[in-house]
Amino acid sequence: GAGFDPVDPAVLRDPYPYYAWLLRHDPVHRGANGIWYVTRYDDVRTVLGEARFGRAGIRDFWASLVGPGPLSEVLRHTIFFQDDPDHERLRSLIGPAFTPRLIRRMGAEIEQTARDLLRPLRRRGEMDLVDDFAYPLALATISTLLGMPARDRDALRAWSVDIAPTLDLLASPEEIARGQAAMGQFAEYLTELIAERRRSPGDDLISAMIEATGGQRPITTNALIGTAVALVFAGHDTVTNQIGNGVLAFLRHPRQLELLRAEPDRLAGAVEECLRYDSSVQSNSRQISADLDLSGTKLPEGAFVVALAGAANRDPAQFTDPDRFDIRRSERPPMSFGAGMRFCLGALLARMELKAALGQLAGLAELRQAVPTGELVYRRSTMFRGVVSLPITFAATP
Ligand code: HEM
Repeated sequence: GAGFDPVDPAVLRDPYPYYAWLLRHDPVHRGANGIWYVTRYDDVRTVLGEARFGRAGIRDFWASLVGPGPLSEVLRHTIFFQDDPDHERLRSLIGPAFTPRLIRRMGAEIEQTARDLLRPLRRRGEMDLVDDFAYPLALATISTLLGMPARDRDALRAWSVDIAPTLDLLASPEEIARGQAAMGQFAEYLTELIAERRRSPGDDLISAMIEATGGQRPITTNALIGTAVALVFAGHDTVTNQIGNGVLAFLRHPRQLELLRAEPDRLAGAVEECLRYDSSVQSNSRQISADLDLSGTKLPEGAFVVALAGAANRDPAQFTDPDRFDIRRSERPPMSFGAGMRFCLGALLARMELKAALGQLAGLAELRQAVPTGELVYRRSTMFRGVVSLPITFAATP
């Protein structure tokens, strides 16, 4: 047939049996629309981590999908869509702005936010894990990181709800129109926020970037807007979805939850296993500008290549019994944060959020999924995996 197709509703619901087949029978696979799908851990690391697999072609493809307007004006300048040397230049601006001091401060804030969010929920004995806990935690973290006042979080939420769908191949014309309007407003807001930070620096990442580049060549407002937008879109739906996927894994494996409660030192290992077992980022795409050979398969110049981290995380050559959820594993790190030159700049922060969330939730007794699995609705995205809502119940405490 046409081969692997990530848009197939059955794949969106549960991609893992399809990945298992590809890993076994056709690890570098030419799928629907002539796109190449890469599944083995080592091959995914190569595709995600090396400059030969570029992003400029993806940027141009996406820009033509959304057409002219604020979306492509802002996003084409973000780190996601650059190749070297521009990629390296942006990365060396953003990376060091995550100073040890900022990370420590964020760690304390994240723990505090997770506790504060859970306090009123404890008495209810039920919640929507996504709306009531995961999303507000991720949103608070990213807005604190950017130095946005708490009162602007609702606006940020509304803009990102409208913009996020435009980053996917499944975007409809209506979604794109809404996204353009939202990006216009968001960029305007950020212009003011950045002007404010230039006047009076704070303890946030934008201020750190302004300060770091203050001497020689001051950073442009457009580069700062692009970076702020990049961090919002790299860093909050990913975390929200990952909290949901992780909690679902524990709900389906109650003995693993018991193990975590009995041995809380396993929290860091539990987070890694949640990332491996059901990653919120399933795939990332590239285009190659010259013929090349990937583990014996010839890929032609111009080919679109999709690296499936979700499959790499189940590669039996790297993980024994890969479909088993087991927080005691100590094999390879998950491929969920990518690799090499584009390894996720927020991985440390994301792990802190996942630890805070899971640590708090593991403390709830009688944790249960409140709707049948067949009723769970997954986001309509080929790249990002997560449930739209996850009702849970637990023993209420006064
Ligand atoms: C890049 C995953 C959270 C900031 C990436 C990439 C992946 C990823 C796979 C590489 C993309 C590619 O190769 O095309 C994740 C996951 C997260 C998460 C699974 C949560 C569980 C965050 C957070 C932030 C962040 C919280 C920021 C606060 C970034 C940035 C890049 C990136 C700036 C671009 C790096 C570059 O191109 O050099 N992330 N991410 N991410 N991520 Fe994350």
